[in-house]
Amino acid sequence: EKEGYPHFMLKEMNEEPKAVSDTLSPRIKDGKIVIDELNMTDEQIRAVKKIFIVACGSAYHTGVTGKYVMEGLARIPVEVDLASEFRYRNPILEEGTLVIVISQSGETADSLAALREAKSRGIATLGIINVVGSSIAREADNVMYTWAGPEIAVATTKAYSTQLIALYLLSIHFAEVRGKISADQTAGMIEDLKQLPEQISMLLSHQTSIQKFANRYLAAEHVFFIGRGIDYAISLEGSLKLKEISYIHSEAYAAGELKHGTISLIEDGRLVVAVMTQPQLFKKTLSNVVEVKSRGAFVMAVTTVGNTEVEKVADYVIYIPETNPYFANSLAIIPLQLFGYYVSIGRGLDPDKPRNLAKSVTVE
Ligand code: F6R
Repeated sequence: EKEGYPHFMLKEMNEEPKAVSDTLSPRIKDGKIVIDELNMTDEQIRAVKKIFIVACGSAYHTGVTGKYVMEGLARIPVEVDLASEFRYRNPILEEGTLVIVISQSGETADSLAALREAKSRGIATLGIINVVGSSIAREADNVMYTWAGPEIAVATTKAYSTQLIALYLLSIHFAEVRGKISADQTAGMIEDLKQLPEQISMLLSHQTSIQKFANRYLAAEHVFFIGRGIDYAISLEGSLKLKEISYIHSEAYAAGELKHGTISLIEDGRLVVAVMTQPQLFKKTLSNVVEVKSRGAFVMAVTTVGNTEVEKVADYVIYIPETNPYFANSLAIIPLQLFGYYVSIGRGLDPDKPRNLAKSVTVE
């Protein structure tokens, strides 16, 4: 059932263009975003005062991106919470709060408990779920399915990519209903969204060069991922992908935080992955790249096509195609997933079954 691929993870990464397209296209009708399954009236959407996004692991990372997109477009305050923290901290859930639970499996124990906590307090809930009929899908007031299809590899790839799409669609829809964006802006974003599957395919076609680069870093002991804003959210996931399947220690840092501690860990040859897709933050992160370079780091940068000045400071540059900056995660994560995969197999590990990890965490 691996269909000729050596691992499920590689197969599932190659399924990302289709998964993204399947999640996106049924919700674009006549140039408009239509989320049929969302049982929220425009009035209810306008009444939302605050959103909690609650999830675990990679799903939490999509939530961090979702916060930037929802706040940026719909101007609704969003708090992102780890489900295992949310459920035990007696969160302040007032009228007008919407709790969004994101989960591939729909069975993660902490995410399910967080959902139940919100429901028991009379708060509206929405699940972004991949497995049809799973516990969270059944219990949430509303469900928006991601159509990634079955995901077997322990490290999520295609489900992550579809969760991002669901969050973009929801953010644009909320922004429209609340009158925060114009019809033209929506149309422009829909055009950008429609291009994502093809752009992802293009990025996947660079597998050999990423593998070559990954092979130079098989013996790394520590890796740092840095970025600001959505680039920080991308860094969180890039770092998790690498460490969970390669067993190399890695950390994601908001680039501006480097000076507050981590930069002392930068030394000769240390690999730093810099994510620089956000135009308004580009120069800021570039200056952090200069700082780590001058302390001997080896820098791999992921940036948008055209930002050739990165080549003057970084050692290896991966370009992603132009898109709306809110959607950059969908493109920048592809080379980082590939990087994690190739480091893992280069080290002789099985990326599909990392030690101590289970696909679905149904215990606390
Ligand atoms: C990492 C990964 C995990 C899951 C997390 C939540 O690659 O897959 O971090 O994202 O265990 O699982 P779901 O989405 O099933 O709730």
